[in-house]
Amino acid sequence: APAPDIRKGLTGVVVDTTAISKVNPDTNSLLYRGYPVQELAAAKRFEEVAYLLWHGELPDAAQLAAFRAGERAGRALQPNVRTAIDLLPTTAHPMDVVRTAVSVFGASDPTADDSSPEANLAKAKALFAALPAMVAYDQRRRRGQVVVPPRDDLGYSANFLYMTFGEVPDQLVVDAFDVSMILYAEHSFNASTFTARVITSTLSDLYSAVVGAIGALKGPLHGGANEAVMHLFEEIGSAENVTPWLDGALAERRKIMGFGHRVYKSGDSRVPTMKSALDTLIAHYDRPDVAALYDALATEFVARTGIHPNLDYPSGPAYHLMGFDTPTFTPLFVASRVTGWTAHIIEQAAANALIRPLSVYDGVEERHVPVVVGR
Ligand code: CMC
Repeated sequence: APAPDIRKGLTGVVVDTTAISKVNPDTNSLLYRGYPVQELAAAKRFEEVAYLLWHGELPDAAQLAAFRAGERAGRALQPNVRTAIDLLPTTAHPMDVVRTAVSVFGASDPTADDSSPEANLAKAKALFAALPAMVAYDQRRRRGQVVVPPRDDLGYSANFLYMTFGEVPDQLVVDAFDVSMILYAEHSFNASTFTARVITSTLSDLYSAVVGAIGALKGPLHGGANEAVMHLFEEIGSAENVTPWLDGALAERRKIMGFGHRVYKSGDSRVPTMKSALDTLIAHYDRPDVAALYDALATEFVARTGIHPNLDYPSGPAYHLMGFDTPTFTPLFVASRVTGWTAHIIEQAAANALIRPLSVYDGVEERHVPVVVGR
């Protein structure tokens, strides 16, 4: 038999079709249900994009009003979820907290095991509505602040920021946050989405798939990179330090978080849109030092390695300027990507095949257990 073709990391392997998003690395383009993501970010709110990912079409005015009403009705932090969060030490990583909170939320849903498309869509929308309160409350409790109940007169992003900080920031900050939510929402068969599809393929429930996806997103090679970028900025300190710092980092063959991508090799389609959102924040908060460090590291890293920034590179400093604690960055990614994950869960369930690859055994040859007399 010919030697099996092993694709470590599943690099280049096509495992299924999807109608949710299309990534074209040759043109650096990303389409959600056919729409370029930068056009959605320029003209639509995150609620409309979430609706698009689930329903396949943008909502009309009546559909959007009904969807928004449902989202607003599901925003409050559930008492049992709050109790579960309170049981966790404030030293727990916020990704561990949100993973646990989603698990408790799911276990409290009496319809958790109904995986019909209608039930899964209802659960997806409920989680989408509930996640901001979980993330916001966790940052507040770590700062010793009391919970802020949601406000029904605010859109998704304004309310998310309000529940986190106790006040509604300037509209341009809300807009930049909304852009980040739109850009993070969906990206085909990335590691966390694939994890969700693997779990769904066993006919497990939606909440189990989302909890698994959160675990996959936590790692710094995936969503954890936005947090890691901020640590990098702190480590480097200022633009003047970039060259000597990079000399050392490249000599040590360090992986620089926020750069590189499995699919895009000549630039991440989402970076220009997020970078311009970051630029508005830099101007608003008057932080030319952040701009200088951002530009110096990006320019020099690309020149020396040919490896381009990914979405986490501009979103990390953007969330920092908005006032989020660094470990809260990846839970913000969760609040957004839950839309893409659940769209994929529903798609996987509708045309399911158990995902179960093969491996080549390279352990010791077959051997036999020594016979011990008397047993
Ligand atoms: N810093 C330094 N070297 C890098 C980097 C980087 N960020 N990215 C790739 N390389 C090098 C890598 O060392 C390897 O070199 P060599 O061939 O000499 O061993 C070469 O480029 C190919 O990299 P790879 O890791 O084999 O390629 P991959 O397709 O498996 O990597 C990646 C994709 C995202 C894991 C990788 O680029 C990386 O680790 N980046 C840093 C983490 C990061 O920013 N992740 C966020 C990804 S995008 C958004 C998201 O999911 O949140």
